[in-house]
Amino acid sequence: MPEENFTNTLYTNDNLFILNGLNSDLVDLIYLDPPFNTKRLFSAPIGSKAAGSSFKDMWNWQDVNEEYLNTLAENYPALTDFIASTSVVHSKAMAAYLTYMVQRIVEMHRVLKDTGSLYLHCDPTASHYLKVLLDEVFGKNNFRNEIIWHYKNASRGKRQLAKSHDVILCYVKTPNYHFYKDAILVPFESGMTEWRYSKGGQVGKEKPKGKIPDDVMIIPSLNTMSKERTGYPTQKPLALLQRIIKASSNEGDIVMDPFCGYATACVAAQQLGRKWIGIDVEENAVDILIERLSDDAGMFKDFVATKLIPKRTDLTIEPPSQSVKERLYKEQNGCCNGCGNEYLMKDMEIDHIIPKAKGGGDYYENYQLLCGNCNRIKGKNTMEFLRIKIQTRKNLLKEKIIFGE
Ligand SMILES: C[S@@+](CC[C@H](N)C(=O)[O-])C[C@H]1O[C@@H](n2cnc3c(N)ncnc32)[C@H](O)[C@@H]1O
Repeated sequence: MPEENFTNTLYTNDNLFILNGLNSDLVDLIYLDPPFNTKRLFSAPIGSKAAGSSFKDMWNWQDVNEEYLNTLAENYPALTDFIASTSVVHSKAMAAYLTYMVQRIVEMHRVLKDTGSLYLHCDPTASHYLKVLLDEVFGKNNFRNEIIWHYKNASRGKRQLAKSHDVILCYVKTPNYHFYKDAILVPFESGMTEWRYSKGGQVGKEKPKGKIPDDVMIIPSLNTMSKERTGYPTQKPLALLQRIIKASSNEGDIVMDPFCGYATACVAAQQLGRKWIGIDVEENAVDILIERLSDDAGMFKDFVATKLIPKRTDLTIEPPSQSVKERLYKEQNGCCNGCGNEYLMKDMEIDHIIPKAKGGGDYYENYQLLCGNCNRIKGKNTMEFLRIKIQTRKNLLKEKIIFGE
């Protein structure tokens, strides 16, 4: 399937399954505004344009897709320790929320192009924990900004300062990321131009067009009088999305919002001549979304709305076979990918890491060799299997730390 077929598409399904079905290195910019773990149920008021839509922001282990935890155990053993510690420092709900988030962040990192950027919109409830997840998945050197969106809240705190900002964490995939500074320049404050102009006694030849804005964005939130406001809970202003999209994408690029809500990012992307992919698990929201995309982005029927999970076209389908087994056996150095013990090849079994029933495919990348015992445990109790696997990885990590690579 050509890349175009993934874009200008609104998927109404769990973003983990949709992300898992998208090709790697596909999108230029990801903006996500997930639930913040506020322990509330949000719904749009009756009579508002978005009436009928709602989403929950309360978390427990049932929200975690255990089958998808394999990558975490395999590639980020230190993060599993970190997340486990948040259940003590904060709560079990926080640990479940962070596990739910990291599963998706790993997939977002995969679908992002090397030149791409990710903006995670959150608030101080979990921003400090989410930053640790991003540091580990994206690499701490790829952190670019902690943006403060200051929205001038009218409600006052009684025994604390009034809450009036959200946090947007910006990471890039590699140092070759794109940043379109000329698209977001703002005028110098009065007096600044002259100062810059004659810096060091030298008058500059070219009049500067403006300066790169700082990391505090002062943009009003959508009040009850705002034309843009639909009543959709937590709807964000178009102006905020426009600034982010202009800074980190070009015309024709692909912008993705995996928690798209009332499709603000998709509408802003469309208005700015970008392609887009929106995902929201709320099926009820689809009619409202279609209406907004028609009204505000002039799209009418020029886009696809589907709940079907896409199929990756960058992986070759290869059913399990003896030659697959031989390759895996070599790669795993004759060790089981669960307990880490050595076995003869005849005593190992090919396992689908993500079961086919949960969206996993017959791809080489989705296979591992397990000993009979680990394979049985995995079939019966995913978490027990992962515990064994994490223990093995931790021991490997410890060895690396003590003895070097
Ligand atoms: C904070 S709202 C996004 C608001 C959006 N930025 C806007 O301006 O309208 C979060 C959205 O994430 C959606 N959501 C929660 N879990 C999801 C999941 N696993 N997959 C896809 N969407 C999800 C909720 O239905 C909700 O609409």
